[in-house]
This record gives sequence, C-alpha cells and structure tokens, in this order.
Amino acid sequence: MPHVLVFDSGIGGTSVLSHLQSTMPQAQYSYVMDNELLPYGLQSQEIIKSRLVALLHWIKQTEKSVDVIVIACNTASTYALATARQHTDIPIVGVVPAIKPAASSSEKKHIGLLATPATSKNTYTANLISSFANDCQVEIYHSTQLVSIAEHYYWYEELQIERLKTELERINICPEIDRLVLGCTHFPIIGEHLQQYLSQKITLIDSGEAIARRVKHILSTCSLEERGIGLGPVHWYATAPDKLEKSVNINLLKLVN
Ligand code: DGL
Repeated sequence: MPHVLVFDSGIGGTSVLSHLQSTMPQAQYSYVMDNELLPYGLQSQEIIKSRLVALLHWIKQTEKSVDVIVIACNTASTYALATARQHTDIPIVGVVPAIKPAASSSEKKHIGLLATPATSKNTYTANLISSFANDCQVEIYHSTQLVSIAEHYYWYEELQIERLKTELERINICPEIDRLVLGCTHFPIIGEHLQQYLSQKITLIDSGEAIARRVKHILSTCSLEERGIGLGPVHWYATAPDKLEKSVNINLLKLVN
C-alpha cells in the first residue's frame, strides 16, 4: 500500500487530503501539522525552511516508508520547496497558488489571489504571476484571520460569521475579477461560505484536484495493485498539544530544528 505523507501548519492540508483520498482510496495516509508555529503565514522564510528540514529528519529517523510527501501548504511550498528537495530522495509535491489555471480560464483577464501574508508577497508567487498571468490584471489579497476562522470551523464545526464578514469587508475583493485563487489550503475549507459573500460571477480556484492527479501519476510508477489494497486510517501527528483533546488519535511529535 503506498504511503502518502501530507504536511501543513494546521488543518488546511485536509482540503488537499480529501482530494487525495477520493482519487486514491487505496493509499495509506499520514497527516502532519506543525501547529506549534501556526500561522505559517506570519513566519519568516528561514524558520519555515528549518521546519521542513526538521520534518524530513523526523521522517528519516522514524524510518517511515513514505512514497510521496505532499507539502499541502502554499506558504511552506513557495518559501521552501527547493530547500526541502535538497534534503531527501522522496518525491515531494508542493502546493502553490493555482495562478496558471485561473489566468488561462479567466475571460475578463482580471483575477485575484487570496493567500497568507507570506505567500502574497514572496518571490515564488511573483514569479508564478509573471510567468503565467502576464496577460491578466492580478489583485493580491492576504489574510491570517481566514486561516484562524477555518481552523475554528474545522475543530468546533462552527462558522464565525461576524468575524468572516468583518474580514471580508477589510479585504474588499474587487467584484470585477472573474477568478479568485485560494492560495492557502485553509481557505477551501470555508470555500462555500466565502462564495456566499462574493459576487457569484467569481469562480474560486484551488490546487487540490491537480495535486491529487500529480500524486497519482507519481504513485503509478510504484504499482498500487502489487503492493496490496486496503483503506487504512489516517495517522495524525501534531507538534503542539492544543486541540489534541479534540481527537484521541493525534500523536504529538517534536520537530527539532
Ligand atoms: N495552509 C497554509 C497555506 O496554504 C498556511 C496557513 C498558515 O499557517 O498561515 O499557506
């Protein structure tokens, strides 16, 4: 059974995990959240690089036989994908803002990117925009509140409507765009609620499905059938004890920089 490890700062990566599970129900999944440093969107590039290196060290040390690592975090991917790849032979799939499909499908050639503060301003994202959205006007928005609202929604199954409305008022998304890239994996978790407060002419785009296709392609080289089929439970890991009381199945792990 192939083993896919999904990593994020918090529960955002579950929006990618669900696409992976429906595309490859036969794989085994581990989900690691670095909630000790949540939100990643306010961390420096150096810190995020060192956390990813520490994660790879932990994978090696615990001898987990991981076939693919999915960095299900736009912030970590745009800041540290290249560094992470230098530290392991395991294939790494990063999740980065879906600028390319948004730009190519936009009829108005006017799109938006909603991401964390780090992703919204880093060089990787700037390069994505200049490579793939050269013919578009791109509005860039950032939010940390939405990360926190998505966390709350996931853990407590409660949408903080007033908080969401206030934050969307602050962000003030231009109603003229026709595509909005959800450039943070936390945002699809509250995607349908975001949509309610935006013009219905704006299509929300995230990278989840494309990532699942990419991982499936990589795993096709290691023949799922031969390695047995079985729907195992997801193994959950977190770096901080908060919220652990919400689930008896989360294991605490220490990432040592
Ligand atoms: N879910 C992450 C992302 O895609 C990071 C959210 C955060 O911790 O700030 O960017």
